Amino acid sequence: MKIDKACKEIIVSEEKIIETCKKLGAQISKDYEGEEVTMVGLLNGCNPFFSDLIKYVDLEVVVDYIKASSYHGTTKSSNDVKILKDLDLPVSGKNVIIVDDVIDTGNTLKKIMEIFKVRGAKSVEACVLLYKETGDDTRYHAKYTGLSIPNAFVIGYGLDFQEHYRNLPYIGIISDELVKEEN
Ligand code: IMP
Ligand code: MG
Repeated sequence: MKIDKACKEIIVSEEKIIETCKKLGAQISKDYEGEEVTMVGLLNGCNPFFSDLIKYVDLEVVVDYIKASSYHGTTKSSNDVKILKDLDLPVSGKNVIIVDDVIDTGNTLKKIMEIFKVRGAKSVEACVLLYKETGDDTRYHAKYTGLSIPNAFVIGYGLDFQEHYRNLPYIGIISDELVKEEN
């Protein structure tokens, strides 16, 4: 499929993404003024959001990454979270902000945050670009949340469908043809 046909509708433009990164970066800079933060990107979806966001965080920042899996290559979430690649640095005594692309069920982020608390982090918060409006208000809600989006499967700007389409510069709802191919 041609890459510009992968989305049936663009819901977040490149301009809106950068505006949101600036807003989130300013909030974080204000809240942690005078402190150091360890920003942990949740691979692979955090990328390129993570790279754009940290440019707007005006603090002493240490960058690290962790990789977890919960989707196993489909468009439906699952409950079990596995760590596939751990941090390089210890988080004990650190202010940690985990950065991810989207909260759907919120299970992945919640589990990783619990792990960092057990490891003795001074504080643990999360920053996500997108929050899906699934109607479930009991879900984990990140302190730093960029934009609410409809409850649809989205791709682009780090979000994948079977590891494809992460390179789109915008975020869009996946085309019906691609979903049909999966079923
Ligand atoms: P969770 O259900 O909130 O735990 O979501 C876990 C991960 O699934 C997210 O970090 C994303 O990488 C991925 N994910 C959730 N919704 C979507 C989507 O609409 N498109 C692509 N990936 C998604
Ligand atoms: Mg993913």
